[in-house]
Parts: sequence; C-alpha cells; structure tokens
Amino acid sequence: MQQKRLRVVVLASGRGSNFAALLAAQQRGELPIDIRALLSDKATAPALDIARDAGIDAIALRPRDHADRAAFDQALFARVVDFHPDLVVLAGYMRVIDAAVVDAWRGRMINIHPSLLPQYPGLHTHQRALDANDVMHGASVHFVTAELDGGPVIAQAQLPILAGDNADSLAARLLPLEHRLLIVTVKLLAQGKIALQGNRVACDDQILAAPLLLDESGSLKQR
Ligand code: GAR
Repeated sequence: MQQKRLRVVVLASGRGSNFAALLAAQQRGELPIDIRALLSDKATAPALDIARDAGIDAIALRPRDHADRAAFDQALFARVVDFHPDLVVLAGYMRVIDAAVVDAWRGRMINIHPSLLPQYPGLHTHQRALDANDVMHGASVHFVTAELDGGPVIAQAQLPILAGDNADSLAARLLPLEHRLLIVTVKLLAQGKIALQGNRVACDDQILAAPLLLDESGSLKQR
C-alpha cells in the first residue's frame, strides 16, 4: 500500500538552500512528502525562483502592504491554508510570527535554527558561539511556539568549532548539516513518528529526554 504523502508548505525569506535540499530529497524519492507551495515575505527571495523552476506555487506577500504584524500573518497564513498543508516548514523565514497564528499551527509547524537551542535564539548565532569560546556549534529543528526559537526541540546536528573559524566558515560548514538535519527530521514527521505532546516531543509515543542527534551516517539517533 502506498504511504500517504505529507502535504508541506515552506516559508523562506532568502536564499532557500534548506528549501532546495528538502525539494531535492522529495524529487529523489527519499521523502514521502508533497511540497505544495513556497511563500515568502520578500518578493526578491531566491527561494521563490527555486520553487518556480520546480513548478511549485511561489507566493510573496509584502509586510508593508498590511496594517500590522497580525494582519500580515493572517493574510500570509490564509494563503498557506489554501494548500491544506499537514506541516509548515520555516526554512530561513526571518520574521517573527504573530502568537495567535503560531498557536493555531501548534504541533504542525517547525523551524530550522542555526544554533544548539536553547543556546542563541535570534540572530548572529555563529558569531555568538565564537564569542562565547564554545567548543561545539550546531543547528536545531524545533516545533514553533510563540516564544522566538523557544519551542520544543526535535533534533539537532552538532559540529566542532575549529581554531581559526570565523562566522562565515562556521556557517558554511554547518549548512550541509542543516540540510541533512531538516530532511531526516521531516522524514520522521512524514512517517508519523514524531509528535508534540504538551510541551514535549514524543518519538514513537515515547517522550524524548533530549533532542534526537544527527550521527555521522546522517541518521537521527536517541542520546
Ligand atoms: C539557515 O542557516 C537557517 O538555519 C537560518 O537562516 C538560514 C537560511 O538559509 N534560519 C534562521 O536563522 C532562523 N532564525 P537558506 O535560505 O539557504 O535555507
């Protein structure tokens, strides 16, 4: 019997490499998902071109055409709903989303963030890890809640900070790990293995004591 495909809508503000990685994994047949649309708050986002080139609906809405944050987010998510997604993926979406909208998507919206949350929510995560003399850096995929980058973490990828690293080198080494992390996390969600239970993440109906970790073979494991 063919598995039901998870309907996915992706939001991105810029380059779109995480979106492209997810799309490529779908196209390779690695993911039982159907990416229905790419929406952006930036009309010039390269992510929109990636979607158009793949024949996927690409929609940009301008925040300044709306009265305030709540009005913009309501308009944006009204468009999201048109595609009936099971899951919304924030892949480099750089706007804070209104709490009422976030609450309506609780357990059905994830974000990828370039730090080992709960460390370094917000911006400039690579520089902040360097400034703190951290030994390890990484990325997290988490369920989105009203607290910025504060929702329950599903899975993380780690990498060592090397002598001589700067924010750019660290970001460049992290990016392929982000791509893999996003793909394997979405795969678990599509397989129905991951769920938000209260404020915690359950995997196969067991509450995780810690986020899943991307191992060297590119798989997620419990730690
Ligand atoms: C990624 O590094 C992602 O983790 C980060 O933006 C970049 C987007 O790259 N997201 C955030 O900082 C969200 N707080 P991409 O457009 O090439 O996927």
